[in-house]
Amino acid sequence: MSKLNFGIVGAGAIAHSCCKAINDHPEARVLAASDPNEERLQGLKEKNNITNTYATNEELFGDAELDAVYIAVPNKFHAPLAIAALNAGKHVILDKPFALSYAEAKEVAYVAAANGKTFTVGMNQRFTPGVQQARSLIKQGDLGEVYHAKSFWFRRKGIPKFGTWFCRKDMAGGGVMLDIGVHLLDATLYVLDNFEPVSVTGQTYTKFGDRGLGEGGWGMSDAKEQVFDVDDFSTALIKFKNGASVSLDVSWAIHQKESNKMDIQIYGTEGGMLCYGQEKFNYGEGSSYSVQQGLNGKKEFEHGDRFHNFINHILGKEELCNPIEQALVIQKILDGIYESSKTGNEVKLD
Ligand SMILES: NC(=O)c1ccc[n+]([C@@H]2O[C@H](COP(=O)([O-])OP(=O)(O)OC[C@H]3O[C@@H](n4cnc5c(N)ncnc54)[C@H](O)[C@@H]3O)[C@@H](O)[C@H]2O)c1
Repeated sequence: MSKLNFGIVGAGAIAHSCCKAINDHPEARVLAASDPNEERLQGLKEKNNITNTYATNEELFGDAELDAVYIAVPNKFHAPLAIAALNAGKHVILDKPFALSYAEAKEVAYVAAANGKTFTVGMNQRFTPGVQQARSLIKQGDLGEVYHAKSFWFRRKGIPKFGTWFCRKDMAGGGVMLDIGVHLLDATLYVLDNFEPVSVTGQTYTKFGDRGLGEGGWGMSDAKEQVFDVDDFSTALIKFKNGASVSLDVSWAIHQKESNKMDIQIYGTEGGMLCYGQEKFNYGEGSSYSVQQGLNGKKEFEHGDRFHNFINHILGKEELCNPIEQALVIQKILDGIYESSKTGNEVKLD
């Protein structure tokens, strides 16, 4: 049986686990990789038995043996490289965030459609057990009408290494909201199955990184001149066409007890739920308040892996978990959060 051949663009920190996920699929394998950093490229090659390595992406995109490309590079290059890969006739799975702007993301969508190739932004949180189960329980009406979700991901000391591209607006486009806020925003809308936002208000803050505080351990990239001009705490309120709302709070650095805390708390007319905490609540009658441990919803994707979904979709076996239309909505909201923070105004999205 011939396999789907993958090329990896960017041999940094995240590429390693992604090579393993692709190679774990019985009908796919990683054949090639590109990165201007020779040492990292060779490291990825040796650990994952990659045969073809390229110093430039153009050479990789020109490799006729490749069917698909996974892109894991600094955010600034996401949209241009996705467009180049699609124009070279490859299917593309891009790591988050989609792009630096909605305008850029729309251009990628246009090129994907023009080339008739599969494109997705691979959002791993969609495949986690709590998110999968909560989505199916909400779909079957267990919580009644869902009117609000409170989503938070607070890292106490989790700024990527100082001096890396993550801390620079020109390379990353933004800070914590684009790094981990995007995960939670995407997972929340996916759980609610609601991609019809009408407005957003946001506020972003830089309170630690600019003082040289709050550094965590993430990032293999080179630490260069120490610039920190992105958000390390961000908050947003998103309103939807059906009247529902989502509040979203994320931090790379914050004064709090726990080193890391995250969840999506969902409020419906017939019950409440914690997605990651996997609990369901009902206040019932009188003193009959109940807490149910564990969520017994049916998972849509038992394999639990974004790459397996992408591969199965190309092979005609599965629906794509994150279609481009949903990825565009997420990018539009992210743009709105930063715009609202800059102007002080609510941003209309519909
Ligand atoms: N889904 C997740 O949970 C998750 C986790 C971490 C990172 N990411 C995303 O993955 C991407 C990579 O993050 P990382 O942590 O691996 O970063 P990293 O800095 O460790 O690695 C990035 C690599 O890209 C290479 N690179 C830079 N410009 C390039 C170019 N034009 N062409 C090819 N290679 C280039 C760098 O040399 C480096 O090796 C980012 O978009 C990040 O947001 C996603």
